[in-house]
Amino acid sequence: MQFHILTLFPEMVENGLQTSILGRAIQKGLIGIHAVNIRDYTQDKHNKVDDYPYGGGAGMLMQAQPVYDAWKAVAKPAEGKKPVRVLFMSPQGKTFSQEMAKELAQEEELIFLCGHYEGIDERVIEEIVTDPVSIGDYVLTGGELPAMVMIDAISRMVPGVLKNEDSGVTESFQENLLEYPQYTRPEVWEGKKVPDILLSGDHARIDKWRLEKSKERTKARRPDLYEKYDLSGRALEYLLKNKMLHMDMIEDIRRGKADILAVREDGVLTKDRSGGVYRITAKTKDAGERLLSLTDPTGAVYVCHQKFVLTSILERFGLKNFNECYQVIYPKKKAPDLPEPDEAVEIRELDETYAANVEAHYHLYHDEAYIRERIASRQMIGAFLDGELAGFAGVHNDGGMGMLEVLEPFRKRGIGSLLEVEMIRRELAAGHVPYAHVFVENEISAALQKKSGMRFASGSVFWVS
Ligand code: ADE
Repeated sequence: MQFHILTLFPEMVENGLQTSILGRAIQKGLIGIHAVNIRDYTQDKHNKVDDYPYGGGAGMLMQAQPVYDAWKAVAKPAEGKKPVRVLFMSPQGKTFSQEMAKELAQEEELIFLCGHYEGIDERVIEEIVTDPVSIGDYVLTGGELPAMVMIDAISRMVPGVLKNEDSGVTESFQENLLEYPQYTRPEVWEGKKVPDILLSGDHARIDKWRLEKSKERTKARRPDLYEKYDLSGRALEYLLKNKMLHMDMIEDIRRGKADILAVREDGVLTKDRSGGVYRITAKTKDAGERLLSLTDPTGAVYVCHQKFVLTSILERFGLKNFNECYQVIYPKKKAPDLPEPDEAVEIRELDETYAANVEAHYHLYHDEAYIRERIASRQMIGAFLDGELAGFAGVHNDGGMGMLEVLEPFRKRGIGSLLEVEMIRRELAAGHVPYAHVFVENEISAALQKKSGMRFASGSVFWVS
């Protein structure tokens, strides 16, 4: 990995990064540090690189020309390669983090631009900078220390730089946990003894103890990080306490479709990635309100799992309309048997030539584009009698089964059951727990669900948009 640093103080960066682990990494050729003196590129006969700001104000600004020419000297976009990212060290940038270090360590080359004085002419920043980065909310006299901090953190993520391959991965900040406490000899120091378990030689128990300590520490010292730790594990732990009511949220997480926005002791908030639906469950009205405040209500669709959360949503956005649904789940692993209707019914996946026909017969609000997308995603099936479409069903983009409709002339002939059971079988085959949301007023569907082996969660879910 090659680092180019555009700076007025090249010796500061070069000297600062030559020792210890990074020094060794340079010698081994794992990283390269190339400081470029911006002053070498000035066209001013007095070697000047700064001037007064237009409009007045304190201090001097670095001029565009020498910065631009220094950048041109190192950037040299190679044929067919993407341009090298230019990181501008600035308190106005995105805050540097371990995650960013890991991401930047994937690059082959990086250019760091270090400002000095009061800053740099905006025009050259606009021209060359790809990523403005800050190392924290304080102002330093220049960008050299931030560049060194970043280069240190990025380098240790480069394979081979750390002696112990794992240690870059397992310690502080990985998985959003702080590191557990560590001890070395002597066993007793100033009357303080090393915890017994670390002397036990039982590595499984030691690992468990360390994880517990990490969690305890993170919770106490960095509650902001702990909120992000093992979100899916903690969300599932909460949701599984009422599995039936939460099956939509559980399945969203298990199918890898949910962004988990918050897991608290009193509630969980997720956002479905494909359907864009916010799902909320909460123990109290207050807890629900706190979760709601984390959502962006513009064009949002909410599914809430308690009546008091529904009330909060309606009050908050001045809404009246909502849909109350039963959450129905197929609880077994074994697929239900396909019913055998009296007539020869063929069930097959629909292709896009059926989109308009489905749209014309589907009693709910979706448009043809939605139906087309569901068909293209191979999530719709049709029932055919003598080659004619008699009914259809599918899986919504939010993961629930639905869109079941039997066309008028074909009703009361067992086709609904057949479609429902086939959907259950397909969902099971995909490794899903089949579930659906059924409008409470849709008695026909509720009866069909029951007959097909679906079980009803106690408590309703509410859709609001
Ligand atoms: N330059 C001056 N202060 C800085 C900071 N906090 N982060 C990055 N660059 C800076």
